[in-house]
Amino acid sequence: MANSLHDQSASQLGGANLFNLEIIKKYDKAGPRYTSYPTAPMFHTGIDAKDYTKTLQRVASDHAPLSLYIHIPFCNTVCYYCGCNKIVTKQYHRADPYLDLLLKEIDRVADSLQDENGNDCQRPVTQLHFGGGTPTFMNNDQMRAIMNKLRARFQFVAKDDGEFSIEIDPRECDEDTVSVLEEIGLNRMSMGVQDFDPIVQKAVNRIQSKEETLRVLNQARQHGFESMNIDLMYGLPHQTVATFDATLKTIIEFSPDRIALFNYAHMPHMFMPQRRIDEAAIPTPQEKLNILEHSINTLLAAGYVFIGMDHFAKPDDELTIAQREGKLYRNFQGYSTQADCDLIGLGLTSIGYIGGGFFQNEKEMDQYAGCVNQDEFPVFRGYILSDEDHLRRQVIMRLMCDFALTYESFESEFNINFKQHFADGIADLQEMSDDQLIELRDDGLTVLPAGRLLIRNIAMVFDEYLQKKKEGSSFSKVI
Ligand SMILES: C[S@@+](CC[C@H](N)C(=O)[O-])C[C@H]1O[C@@H](n2cnc3c(N)ncnc32)[C@H](O)[C@@H]1O
Ligand code: SF4
Repeated sequence: MANSLHDQSASQLGGANLFNLEIIKKYDKAGPRYTSYPTAPMFHTGIDAKDYTKTLQRVASDHAPLSLYIHIPFCNTVCYYCGCNKIVTKQYHRADPYLDLLLKEIDRVADSLQDENGNDCQRPVTQLHFGGGTPTFMNNDQMRAIMNKLRARFQFVAKDDGEFSIEIDPRECDEDTVSVLEEIGLNRMSMGVQDFDPIVQKAVNRIQSKEETLRVLNQARQHGFESMNIDLMYGLPHQTVATFDATLKTIIEFSPDRIALFNYAHMPHMFMPQRRIDEAAIPTPQEKLNILEHSINTLLAAGYVFIGMDHFAKPDDELTIAQREGKLYRNFQGYSTQADCDLIGLGLTSIGYIGGGFFQNEKEMDQYAGCVNQDEFPVFRGYILSDEDHLRRQVIMRLMCDFALTYESFESEFNINFKQHFADGIADLQEMSDDQLIELRDDGLTVLPAGRLLIRNIAMVFDEYLQKKKEGSSFSKVI
């Protein structure tokens, strides 16, 4: 089923079918990006450090691989568009106490995963991600210290057998940094660019030259980084099809393995720095759609495959191959080739998914530090999934990754009759079928080209909590 995705030529995927403005307007409402289900607004403070301890102990002797996420919250300057969890400061010494806290938290987690004889957890770590903020706000020795601690307490698979990645801001990364990142065992990099146009860069307070981006990209290649991703963003102030085309051409020349093209989520009520963006300079919805259409066509013509939900990859990239084989997954970092494994979140605000539950760390540094220093887990909220949540999580995951559902696979695994179980959503799906977003069959559904951009809307049909609320004010617009 997933194979057909990659048989689509640029002209079939692009063009009128994909960019039907009337249809997009009809469905253009706020919706989650489904990096988790249930989504973060469902997390609640009824879940705490005690639940986390019990869950860690319960999963310690499982055999499935582990994934680790480490959040480094600091940034040297603020990009006005930014919706990430960050602390903006030029005081690099603030990283020192944070490093101590992280090392303590790693020990605390590893202690809880020990067996009754005091042996550390033997589950293989196949995936590691440093996110931010700006992870390289940490200096080289601090990065070494984190990795040494992690390696001392967890069993990492060989470098070639895992995905070990880091988010890089090229403005905070010199050649020494790249070689240290290689030395500590990282093999993937994701770089923020957004837009090279000087007027756009000034309007969002992110001045980053092509030269420094290219320099880091080339250094990473020389240091054996296998997979390079570049983040771009459309919908930023002063962007037009012509200005963004220049950015796309430069990026295509760099030839990264993957490109993420994010839709700027403008939510100034939630993110203070966004109030410094001149709303009058933000492209109109029609112009945004034109930029998106042009970008998709340009990237497809350059040989990239549209994986879905903002992501593009080369035909021989692992993501593309995994999607072709129906082995693609989605987690907090976006798409992944690693099976749906337990994820341990470390650091301020990080979220883990362990033993069928989400656990989120404190968002304020004082609270985070207070807990860690008292040898307590800094977990302040979370969510334990019910059987129904697991079913819906799987349905949404397969929809986002395969762009198709085969009912039978869920019927056998969850012991349900799919159509009866989701009877409430059938009317919505029928309407989407009438609008040519999906092909609705007796045994499943396939997302059609026009539905690719509206995949969030299709997934929303299966979101029990959104269906109950019928609103999504804390989510960004779909297009
Ligand atoms: C944590 S940041 C990237 C790491 C690093 N700090 C940097 O800026 O290069 C991850 C990505 O999220 C995206 N992003 C941030 N704010 C966003 C927003 N408001 N809407 C959409 N995407 C956003 C950007 O593309 C950014 O590169
Ligand atoms: S985009 Fe990156 S560098 Fe800019 S403020 Fe956000 S996290 Fe920091």
